[in-house]
Amino acid sequence: MIQRPKGTYDVYGSLAKKQDYVKRMFGAVCESYNFGYIETPIFERSELFHRGVGETTDIVTKETYDFQDKGGRDITLRPEGTASVARCVIEDKLYTELPRKFYYIGQMFRYERPQKGRYRELRQMGVELYGSSEPIADAEVISLGKNFLDELGIETKVIINYLGGVETRKKYREALIKHFEANIDEFCEDCKERLYKNPLRILDCKVDNNNSLMESAPSILDYLSEEESENFVKIQEYLRYLNIDFEVDTRLVRGLDYYNNIVFEFKTLDDEFGSVGAGGRYDGLTASLDGPSVPSVGFAFGLDRLVDVMNRDNIEVENSNIDLYIMNVTENELMYSYNLAQDLRMCGFKVDIDLLNKSMKAKFKEVDRLNPKYIIIIGEEEVKTGVLTVKDNLTKEEQKIESTELLDFLNVNL
Ligand code: HAM
Repeated sequence: MIQRPKGTYDVYGSLAKKQDYVKRMFGAVCESYNFGYIETPIFERSELFHRGVGETTDIVTKETYDFQDKGGRDITLRPEGTASVARCVIEDKLYTELPRKFYYIGQMFRYERPQKGRYRELRQMGVELYGSSEPIADAEVISLGKNFLDELGIETKVIINYLGGVETRKKYREALIKHFEANIDEFCEDCKERLYKNPLRILDCKVDNNNSLMESAPSILDYLSEEESENFVKIQEYLRYLNIDFEVDTRLVRGLDYYNNIVFEFKTLDDEFGSVGAGGRYDGLTASLDGPSVPSVGFAFGLDRLVDVMNRDNIEVENSNIDLYIMNVTENELMYSYNLAQDLRMCGFKVDIDLLNKSMKAKFKEVDRLNPKYIIIIGEEEVKTGVLTVKDNLTKEEQKIESTELLDFLNVNL
């Protein structure tokens, strides 16, 4: 038997319904903030992610699915969406009309060790806002994310931190190297490697989390310029104004190189699944990809994790069972039933019929499985008179309805 690859899963049945619901909800919230849908290729030239996400990041050094296509080009399955959207903004000159706001939903690929909430094929739903460096733009994307989570019924907290610009991080980097250097032997192999390459990443190491040097590490907030500090204070003011609960965590640094200034994560209150969403500002990304400098901020939710949390918390989505099952008593009524089904489908109802020419007993068994709201039974009499038998599948009550009155009845009752 051929099995699905490790770290992937199939989506059908109730899981498909749940994912579909979450995606539609996300789309609706994004549209309400006037973010427009964007779809970029699932594979890109490898260089985009190497330069965009960062050569020293775990994602690029360990986790990308890279291959050469038949034309010898280096190709990478996208591990995230931000670099691709930036590429599109530059390539199609979308920066000529700013601000512009995008959202996307789709599969990403990361060769990570599969575990709870972590997959190799993952689904992200993200937003990217281009063309504003104002703190209100940061608050806008965080509020979009929080509103969406509230709509889903998932209780989360927002964790924020402020990384400042290039100069600030340069000074902070030096301070961190000085702080960890003497005792780096106590740390894991990854941290040893990070010390000179990317010392900020030591701060979010899961292995060395409890080392006392973590607690005593210098805080980035002490290295911010006056303007950066003011900016951070303003963002917090806006969040308070929007009634968004947040915590400042100075050890939140994020695993992608393109971030500057605000970074944030959405986490469930017990943090069982890691972050369900994360993002930040990345003003330098378009310039690092040879485009003009365009201030930008965004985030992505992990759809898989959101659904894992919904399942754990027994959060059910709206009942999307079929509306009607049309049941022909014998084969003689098949065409009548089928025509009726087609008409009702054209009117927007979700309708199913018997495709296997089953016995009446088997048809009723099928009804139990599909759980429609109404069953319309079509026998010889119904075809002759045009008076249909309509059965409420919940109350089991039957009533006779003229076929000409059927639409009115369904519009009122469904
Ligand atoms: P990220 O933190 O790498 O950021 O991923 C965002 C979210 O994707 C995470 O919070 C998590 O919910 C989900 N996720 C990541 N890896 C996995 C995995 N292996 N399995 C399941 N879920 C996962 C980014 O990707 C940035 N592009 C976000 C962003 C957009 N920043 C600015 N704009």
